[in-house]
Amino acid sequence: MLDKKIEEAINGQINAEIYSSYLYYSMSAYFDSISLSGFAHWMRAQALEEMTHAHKFFAYINNRGGRVVLSAIESPQLEWDSPTAVAEHVYKHEVLVSGLINKLMDLALSLSDHATVNFLQWFVAEQVEEEASADEVVQKLKLVDKKEGGLFMLDQEMGKRALTLPPELTGGA
Ligand code: FEO
Repeated sequence: MLDKKIEEAINGQINAEIYSSYLYYSMSAYFDSISLSGFAHWMRAQALEEMTHAHKFFAYINNRGGRVVLSAIESPQLEWDSPTAVAEHVYKHEVLVSGLINKLMDLALSLSDHATVNFLQWFVAEQVEEEASADEVVQKLKLVDKKEGGLFMLDQEMGKRALTLPPELTGGA
């Protein structure tokens, strides 16, 4: 049985993950609006990945006999000054999400909820990856800044990102 405080906090995290997805879709739309289709593809892949995170929390609440409660999703930002500004925003946002995961972990530890601690370990590791990959894009954009054709080349590279969705989201399980 899931402690009510944990249930409430995880429901809040579902909202945060869906908001992340919404924000990244908005970034994808921004990239489409400036004809950087590779970056738009990358952000759509990020957006879908965030929905898989939301789903992991959703399924966890259900598995522990809790009740999923969905709440309103805030409107995301619409415009950015440059591709670098978007990548910096992604990085900042991932750092913020890492903080939310850490708070969840603190709560689970304080309640000696070992099952939730174990479940959250995956997210702790995932956030390390997410921060690193967002930072890598920021650094690459800074490198190509002002170089003729550099952004075009990078856009092509970003367009190659593959996304494998987990079977529970594709009807396989
Ligand atoms: Fe679900 Fe990118 O954190």
